[in-house]
Order: sequence, then structure tokens, then C-alpha cells
Amino acid sequence: MRLLGIETSCDETAAAVVAEGRRTLASVVASQIPLHRKFGGVVPEIASRAHLQAILPVVEEALAQAGVEPRQLDGVAVTVRPGLIGSLLVGVSFAKALALLWDRPLVAVDHLLAHIYACFFAHPGLEPPLVALVVSGGHTSLYLVEEPTRTTLLGATTDDAAGEAFDKVASILGLGYPGGPAIEQVARGAPPTALRFPRTLLGEGSLDFSFSGIKTAVLYHCFGQDASESKRSETPFGRREVPADEQVSVAAAFQEAVVEVLAEKCRRALTQTGLRRLAVSGGVAANARLRQRLGQSAQEGGWTVVFPPKELCTDNAVMVAALGAELLRRGEVASPEVAAGAGS
Ligand code: KG4
Ligand code: ZN
Repeated sequence: MRLLGIETSCDETAAAVVAEGRRTLASVVASQIPLHRKFGGVVPEIASRAHLQAILPVVEEALAQAGVEPRQLDGVAVTVRPGLIGSLLVGVSFAKALALLWDRPLVAVDHLLAHIYACFFAHPGLEPPLVALVVSGGHTSLYLVEEPTRTTLLGATTDDAAGEAFDKVASILGLGYPGGPAIEQVARGAPPTALRFPRTLLGEGSLDFSFSGIKTAVLYHCFGQDASESKRSETPFGRREVPADEQVSVAAAFQEAVVEVLAEKCRRALTQTGLRRLAVSGGVAANARLRQRLGQSAQEGGWTVVFPPKELCTDNAVMVAALGAELLRRGEVASPEVAAGAGS
């Protein structure tokens, strides 16, 4: 079975072809990062227009890379939710048109389930039940995974997602967009103990997250309590900049605080569910310090942790095609009227 997967939920236009739900025949990701960089984050209007321009060449390139003709495909899988509605609409409309044109089944994929599925795809021996942490730019959520396609939400962020906090702190430090890789790079090798930012754990036993406090703590640390954007940019010397040595110690301490909170919440979720397997995915799961820290916790706690390879942590269409194949195998074909949805 060969599936074409299409992903346009945020700022990556991606297409992939996956065989038997197991083998990547092609994966193409057109990133819009350069378009959004000067705004310090994703601008939805720009994102949807860029998807419109990229979608046809990206899909054509994926088919060419795979050496597959449309008639050799068994279906078209597409992310239908959650995400930026204007961006989702481009992928969903395009996938519907292809399914109609090629007379192939359309499969509707949930982006968060696809992130989790990247763990099953990358680790074929991985068996549910398990706890999954999806940690990305839009979500920070813990799930009980009963089956690769069936989950129960255990906890989620009450404000910012962890990736969003990385992006905002990078912006405060003047490190550019996207913030996660920039902070990881600056913090690499620096002792995380020169500074300490608060770890917001919410109530005892809570599996929810909150990252807005740490972002404010970083802002106050760098610019004082009166740190509004206008104050920061209205100094006689132009925008005040955080000195390089300060960037390093703040980045390392911030990363450590976020990683510790994520590790503690995973520990709680495993204890509360009595499960001994953890799967971590989403853009922030590419972070080396998080991978190292969770590996260490797993050893100490006697449980196992898996991550997809980094290119399957950030947004991609392999995870969409792979989950699509699993859904199609279960007979879950979408109606041609299926709608894109911004919320989960
Ligand atoms: O999963 P993803 O590509 O898109 C969403 O579904 O949101 O995640 C993007 C997020 C961004 O906030 C980015 O800064 C963060 O993942 N990210 C990282 C790293 N690579 C990407 N955060 C920390 N460390 C990284 N190495
Ligand atoms: Zn994502």
C-alpha cells in the first residue's frame, strides 16, 4: 500500500510517500522560516499564501522522488486539524482535489495523532499502551495512548506551549526565529546553573503545564520589571540588546527549567497511569538536552523512552502518510466533504 501524505497545518508545506505504512519513499519539506523570520513568528496570512505557491511543486517533487505515478497510489492522507485554518485549508482542498481526480480514498489525519504516530513509525516494535508527550510550537500535551490511533488527554498547557516559550524567549534574547534550535545552540556546553528560573508545576499531581511565568521571568531578568516592548525599543541607543554572555546563561537556565518541568510531568503521568513506556514527539522533542534528560529519568525510573529521529519531530508529511496508512487499513476513509478545523 502506497500513500501520499500532505501537511500544511502551520508554516511547513510538506508531502511524503510512504509504502506499507513503514517505508519512506519520499519526503519533501518546504520551510517558510525565511518568510516569517523578520516578524519573529508565523504570520497566518503569509503562511497560507506561501502554502498555495508551494503545494503543487512539493507534491510533484515527492512523487518524482518516490518514482511513483498517481495510479500506483492507494490513497491521499492530509492533516485536517488542528492548526492555522488558512494553512490547513490549502492542504485539505488540494488533497480533496487529488483524491477526486485520481479516484483514490481520502484519509483525514489529526496533526497531534500524527506527531505521536511518528514514534510508532520510527520504532516498529513500540507497543501501546503508553504515555505520549507532544511538545511543539502549538501544543504541550500528555496522552494515554491505548492504540496508535486512540488516545485520552491526560494534561495540556494552560497558556503557552513549550515551543512557543522557546520562540518568545529567543525573541527576548534577540536570537531570532525559530527559537528552539537557536536557544539549544547558544546553550550548548554552558552550565545551566549560573541562573535559576521558576519551575511552574501547578498543583501536586497536576499533569497540566504553564510556561507563561518563565517567559515573564526571563523578560524581567533581561530588561527589569518595566520591560514593555516600547520601553525596550525606545532607549537612546535603539533596541537594547542582551549581551552575549548573558544570552548564554539565560538560554541555558531557561532550557533547563523547561526540560525539568517536562521531565517531572512525564514522571507523574507514568506513575499515575502505572505505565512504563513514554513516547515523545513534536518540534521540541528535537532538543538534545530534553532527549538526554528524559533518557536519564527513564534509566532512574526503570521505564523506557523513545523519540522519532529529529526530522520526524518537527512538522513533516511522513507521519501524516504513515498514520493515514494505518487509518486506511482500519477502513477509516474520509468523506469528500470533510472540513478543516483549527481546534483539536
Ligand atoms: O512540531 P513543530 O514543527 O510545529 C508545531 O506543530 O508547532 O514544532 C515547532 C516548535 C517551534 O516552537 C520550535 O522553536 C520548536 O518546535 N523546536 C525546538 C527545537 N526544534 C524545534 N525547541 C527546542 N529545541 C529544539 N531543538
Ligand atoms: Zn507539529
